[in-house]
Amino acid sequence: MFAASRLTTAFLALVLAAAASAATSPTAQDARVRELLARMSLEEKIGQLNQYSSRELKTGPGSDEDLVAMVTRGQIGSLLNVIGAEETRKWQKLAVESSRHHIPLLFGLDVIHGYRTVFPIPLATAASWDLALIERAERIAATETAAAGVHWTFAPMVDISRDPRWGRMSEGPGEDPYLAAAIARARVHGFQGDDLAAVDTVLACVKHFAAYGAAQAGRDYFTTDVTERVLRDVYLPPFRAAVDAGVGTVMAAFNDLDGTPASANAFLLDRVLRREWGFRGFVVSDWASIREMLEHGNVANLHEAGLKAFAAGLDMDMESNAYRDTLAADVKSGVIAPARLDAAVTAILTAKARLGLLDDPFRYSDESREKATLLKPEFLAAAREAACRSCVLLKNEHGILPLATGNITVGLVGPLADAPYDQMGAWHGRGRKEDSITLLRALEQLLPPERLKFAAGCAANDLETAGIVAARRVAEESDVVIVAVGEGADQSGEATSRASLDLSGPQLELLREVHAAGKPIVLVLLTGRPLMIEAVEPLVDAILVAWHPGTMGGPAITDVLTGAYNPSGRLPVTWPRSVGQIPIFHAQKNSGRPQPKSASDRYYSHYIDSPNTPLYPFGFGLSYTHFEYDQLRLSAPRIQPDAALSVTVRVRNAGARAGEDVVQLYLRDHVGSVTRPVRELKGFRKISLAAGEAQDVSFTLTPAELAFWRADMTFGVEPGTFSVFVGANAMAPLTASFEVEPAVRAASR
Ligand code: GLC
Repeated sequence: MFAASRLTTAFLALVLAAAASAATSPTAQDARVRELLARMSLEEKIGQLNQYSSRELKTGPGSDEDLVAMVTRGQIGSLLNVIGAEETRKWQKLAVESSRHHIPLLFGLDVIHGYRTVFPIPLATAASWDLALIERAERIAATETAAAGVHWTFAPMVDISRDPRWGRMSEGPGEDPYLAAAIARARVHGFQGDDLAAVDTVLACVKHFAAYGAAQAGRDYFTTDVTERVLRDVYLPPFRAAVDAGVGTVMAAFNDLDGTPASANAFLLDRVLRREWGFRGFVVSDWASIREMLEHGNVANLHEAGLKAFAAGLDMDMESNAYRDTLAADVKSGVIAPARLDAAVTAILTAKARLGLLDDPFRYSDESREKATLLKPEFLAAAREAACRSCVLLKNEHGILPLATGNITVGLVGPLADAPYDQMGAWHGRGRKEDSITLLRALEQLLPPERLKFAAGCAANDLETAGIVAARRVAEESDVVIVAVGEGADQSGEATSRASLDLSGPQLELLREVHAAGKPIVLVLLTGRPLMIEAVEPLVDAILVAWHPGTMGGPAITDVLTGAYNPSGRLPVTWPRSVGQIPIFHAQKNSGRPQPKSASDRYYSHYIDSPNTPLYPFGFGLSYTHFEYDQLRLSAPRIQPDAALSVTVRVRNAGARAGEDVVQLYLRDHVGSVTRPVRELKGFRKISLAAGEAQDVSFTLTPAELAFWRADMTFGVEPGTFSVFVGANAMAPLTASFEVEPAVRAASR
């Protein structure tokens, strides 16, 4: 009987599952969207193209439209910055009940590195080089976001940046297209999972399309002027990876590219995104970016801006009012083809269908699930692990780290030592400072009061220095001093470009005063980007970059400082000596005068007041153990252009404790139809080795890694000599060479 009833139950479940999947299968969804579209009026279609922000939480210079009236009139397809199960349910009810076809709203939010459980900033998790960790972090972010009634995150941000003056470097994957593409795939999979209708997945949005990080002078929103070859070799690969990973939406960038604002750039939005890459989702503008075409000087009025943007392929207007009032007339007059409008509305309705919103508009607005989901202990544990694995150890003289905290007095100074809001960094979603555990709080858990001294000493970004005396006294009373400085959250992210990247405010003065006490110093940098510490470096014995580590930053930094976790982060960006070197990155060209012929020669590419080399190279990071690389071997001395080459290296943990290293493979194409970078990352693997353990690590180089945009703007491999470099950063010396032969014609093979 029991068996029989179990069989019946199982059979019933199978039938229901089949029925449900039939209702949500793409073909059924497509039919449903087509049927809905056929019933919609021109005004209702245009209503789906408009997105506005909650007035309570603005993430840009906001308009003050009457949202209730517009939602009631079916003039809004999406709201951003409306959050929480209760609030989203309220707005959804208004939309569904007041619109003729009961079309639900799409709720969007910037969940850039966590919703309530704040993970380290994206540049930090990029420093982990750990794709599984990155995907898991986004999975958790999606789970919390969906539980809060939000369907769509404006992430991943994949803008390559080689200029730390640009504050948004903190939101991105760093300087390298290969690492960025791998990270983009991981983040999209983390957010979207395998089923957008699941209540722990959200629609992702890869941004900002494109080359936003190439802003001249590092000034946010500023013009970008890159060649098509640089665009395709450097800035587009992570977007392509996100599209190939199935990202549902794309956000156009603020900048103009080659003279055309990205919001109306048909080369980007139509030719590349749709015709070359086959993207089938929809494109949303950035905040008022269509309207800003007037400031760009690319259009004479808002009507023209809307017309150009929509014609170029921009589907949804965030906060410009550029489609709402004029697009209907353009369709009626034939300036805009009805098919173009239907394509945009179909893409938006399809996203809503994939999320399950046409079946149940309220499926994500569940207050009990919201309460049960946010800040789960396992989410906080994952955030702590992510923060540990993102820390990069840049210096560790005399093995001062890990700290032997058993019998020493630790002094802790600096404005970022007990800064629960600042450690969350920019774009910290709905993170709350009361949930943040700071370095001070974490050390208090570890050390008895008599062996922990604290004084903030100063703020990160004002000129008050009265507190520095107390910090000096803490140093004098301690055996070792931890100095936690860097950037506040409001000094990082959007609209925070800096002309100077020195330690801001009196932080350098604080450090010098503490140094004068003559005790060993561990510098902990909490920052959204590389800061210029060349003058600081000699004053300290150890340097740990914790970036903006999020909710669990304090415990994570403590885990690393005490050796509970052996640091394994590696720089995802080159760390300059000075702002004067910017842009500086590993994949630079050789130039015609790369180094002097003789010591007396001065006619070569260099500065007369600084080395060319960075303070720390891309991929660099120390461990509490050390690794040796040898036995580099290639599977062949020469290959055909369509063949693959295997590269193997032996890595040994030559130290006394277990640790992880990021084995990095770089490539140089010595002669090309255009000049080629001296090194390009083409493979990486994070491995863990016990003390004394050795392991062979192999990579496969395929034509995809050897190819580039050639002089004739075709993408492919060219014959010639190549070198590989394998090691623990972009200046790894271990090298081997191989030849790519001219293609042998099939007949003569
Ligand atoms: C902002 C940002 C963008 C964000 C959007 C919505 O201006 O540029 O990254 O997703 O507006 O908040």
